[in-house]
Amino acid sequence: MTKDTEILARRRVLVVASPKGGVGKSSLSRNILVSAVMAGFRVIGADLNPQQTLWKWHERREKMRASFPEVMTAPVTLGTLGDWRKTVALVEDYDLVVIDTPPSIETHYGVMINLCAAAHHVLVPCGATLDDVDSVTPWMRTLTAAKVPASFVMNRVNNRVNSFKTYQTKLLAVGQLCPVAVPQIEDVHLSAAKGLAVPDLISRRHQETFDALWSYVAREVGLPVSEASLSADPRATAPPPNRKTSEAIAAVEQSENAKGLAIAAALVQLVEGISHDLGKRVAAVHAQMDAIINKE
Ligand SMILES: Nc1ncnc2c1ncn2[C@@H]1O[C@H](COP(=O)(O)OP(=O)(O)OP(=O)(O)O)[C@@H](O)[C@H]1O
Ligand SMILES: [Mg+2]
Repeated sequence: MTKDTEILARRRVLVVASPKGGVGKSSLSRNILVSAVMAGFRVIGADLNPQQTLWKWHERREKMRASFPEVMTAPVTLGTLGDWRKTVALVEDYDLVVIDTPPSIETHYGVMINLCAAAHHVLVPCGATLDDVDSVTPWMRTLTAAKVPASFVMNRVNNRVNSFKTYQTKLLAVGQLCPVAVPQIEDVHLSAAKGLAVPDLISRRHQETFDALWSYVAREVGLPVSEASLSADPRATAPPPNRKTSEAIAAVEQSENAKGLAIAAALVQLVEGISHDLGKRVAAVHAQMDAIINKE
């Protein structure tokens, strides 16, 4: 094998595809993208969804990078489903292409199967509800029949409730299931609002989930997994965020905390107001009752 074919042989395509809308295709795509960047791979995201969720996130990230250049670049390009071959061809210049796709697969079934057949792995995000499971299982059967390597990944789960196990069992009966279930995590959407992803954050709370997801994805697509690049260890390739970045991220976190506190304060006021009014009304009723009793 020559050096070039050796390099090409290591290049990989990951498609994130689920017929269900809002299950986390774009969220998982951007987190995987940033994990791959931090692991030192040359990676690009491709947004094939006309809603351009991944693209808009990338635009926010570029704005963030204009003020905080130490935020690592995570390139994203736009594409169309009809022209999917062009997107897959990006693999000639990158180690990994992460392709985010639109929902409602049924309206462009043929093209989606062809795209997925060109991928090294297809991730099928799924929430822990019966609606989600009903929607994604026929899609996994189709992928399996087409011999496309694919796995479900459960997203926005609460793994402490019984239904989580029930849906996990249902998915396992149909196809491969990623062993990492991503919980409902506020940082997923808070970070996205600033063009960031969970692996960018200083807070280590949910890093392990995304490190584990990345290790799984890398292994499935066939890229080497380096333990040194995982955030549990000092990062091999990514410099630690400097003070400015920390401040930017802390500002995002604080402003969300401040919003939460303001809402909580408003609720407390409301409850106090209600109990105050209620107290006054009860006192008035008592006074009326006393007046009636005394009259008798
Ligand atoms: N694990 C999570 N924790 C918290 N919020 C999440 C999580 N995953 C996704 N979300 C939020 O759920 C919403 C939908 O997610 P996302 O846009 O990734 O879904 P999608 O499958 O790409 O949707 P569409 O089908 O419209 O393209 C977003 O607001 C996102 O921030
Ligand atoms: Mg999306």
